[in-house]
Amino acid sequence: MQEVKKVALITGANKGIGFEVARQLAKSGWTVLASARSEELGRQAVAKLQAEGLDVQYVHIDLDAPESAAIAAELTRKQFGKLDLLINNAGVARQDDGPPSKVGLESVQKTMHTNFIGTVAVTQAMIPLLQAAGKAQIVNVSSRLGSLSQPTNPNWVVLGYCASKAALNMLTVQLAYEFRDGNIAVNSVNPGYTATDLNGNSGTQTVSEGAAEILRVALLDPPVTGKFLQTGGEIPW
Ligand SMILES: NC(=O)c1ccc[n+]([C@@H]2O[C@H](COP(=O)([O-])OP(=O)(O)OC[C@H]3O[C@@H](n4cnc5c(N)ncnc54)[C@H](OP(=O)(O)O)[C@@H]3O)[C@@H](O)[C@H]2O)c1
Repeated sequence: MQEVKKVALITGANKGIGFEVARQLAKSGWTVLASARSEELGRQAVAKLQAEGLDVQYVHIDLDAPESAAIAAELTRKQFGKLDLLINNAGVARQDDGPPSKVGLESVQKTMHTNFIGTVAVTQAMIPLLQAAGKAQIVNVSSRLGSLSQPTNPNWVVLGYCASKAALNMLTVQLAYEFRDGNIAVNSVNPGYTATDLNGNSGTQTVSEGAAEILRVALLDPPVTGKFLQTGGEIPW
């Protein structure tokens, strides 16, 4: 009997780390739903991967429009009936973010809305499909900047972004607890400082290096759950 292919959904897969994760997962035989908020950019990215012979499809998800997650989940249910892996990768670092004493409230609110609330919406929409897979994984792409106990990075004293990643880590901790007896493993991964548009390409790693720990954790068998990981080990929460 032919083995049913595993299905992964990656948010923000049109570029950067998400695009590389999509490529590498598809190369290892997965069906990849590469989601993006821009249909044009999403379809261009998918066309590139399809041209490499990879099994990748476009799905529209905008973290600022939670109803798009519900629509994507319904389309996924109709086509596959399950989801084996959700990679919550999409995120923003706004130019108008700043230190806690003076950053604009609207900026913090927008970052929290996109990076945290939007990710909660996607996760909630996908949970029935992850449960339907029998054994599934969620990887939340976080940041070391979301750690409450690591020393503050003097170059990134930006309340909105850091708080949104700390909140994302709480989503990881609570979901891992909720599913402690179940079959969904949930982890946060810091990809490390990677050259992408998010940081004006100032990162010191390539996207392939940035994707590495996300892929390692996503493919762990047996999986770990409730961890905050980066290449080389755990990060204190
Ligand atoms: N690069 C680093 O050094 C680094 C370090 C630690 C953590 N991270 C995290 O890694 C993840 C990927 O970032 P990256 O470095 O690859 O940055 P990137 O190249 O800027 O990619 C970010 C992705 O998120 C998407 N996105 C932004 N807002 C969205 C929304 N409202 N709805 C749906 N998608 C949205 C972007 O889509 P558009 O193209 O439409 O904007 C893009 O696809 C982020 O969560 C980031 O916080 C990155």
